[in-house]
Amino acid sequence: MELWEAILTRRSIRKFKSQIIPEELIEKILRAGMQAPSARNKQPWHFVVIRNREMLNKISEVHPYAYMLKEAPLGILICGDTNIETTIEYIVQDCSAATQNMLLAAHGFGLGAVWLGIYPREQRITALKELLQIPNHIIPIAMIAVGYPDEIKSFEDRFNPERIHYEKW
Ligand SMILES: Cc1cc2nc3c(=O)[nH]c(=O)nc-3n(C[C@H](O)[C@H](O)[C@H](O)COP(=O)(O)O)c2cc1C
Repeated sequence: MELWEAILTRRSIRKFKSQIIPEELIEKILRAGMQAPSARNKQPWHFVVIRNREMLNKISEVHPYAYMLKEAPLGILICGDTNIETTIEYIVQDCSAATQNMLLAAHGFGLGAVWLGIYPREQRITALKELLQIPNHIIPIAMIAVGYPDEIKSFEDRFNPERIHYEKW
């Protein structure tokens, strides 16, 4: 799929088939995340790959908007390492860039995915840290649910000229 087409047609997919995702596609999605830009090229991210059905179900129970994890064959938690990058605002931006890269890569491979917000919701951060035994210096930032799509989402044109300011506001 062309990059332009992928950017325009990516949508949040929340219904998945049970079909397993091949290892090499999972690695490519992770590679896409790690190719993201980051402040001072610190690459402060870690990724927790979750395929265990019981764990995916448990996460869907502690996150109020993650019901689709009950169906998804794969979840990836994107975390920031405060030992590598001490400025939380940069961690959030770096991990968000990684997350979007991963969503686009998944879409390009014919998979569907959705971004699940974690940071800055304390309850979600604490619950995920506990469930996944994440050390103190690591902050869960976002999660993606991934699978072969079981719904079709159409293109939605969001181009809005009113939000563009040329040369000055
Ligand atoms: C920071 C962030 C947090 C989000 N959290 C959730 C979430 O918890 N659950 C969910 O189903 N979708 C979540 N989304 C997906 C948005 O609802 C979705 O991107 C938006 O409605 C636009 O739709 P689209 O992705 O199909 O273009 C999140 C997106 C972002 C960027």
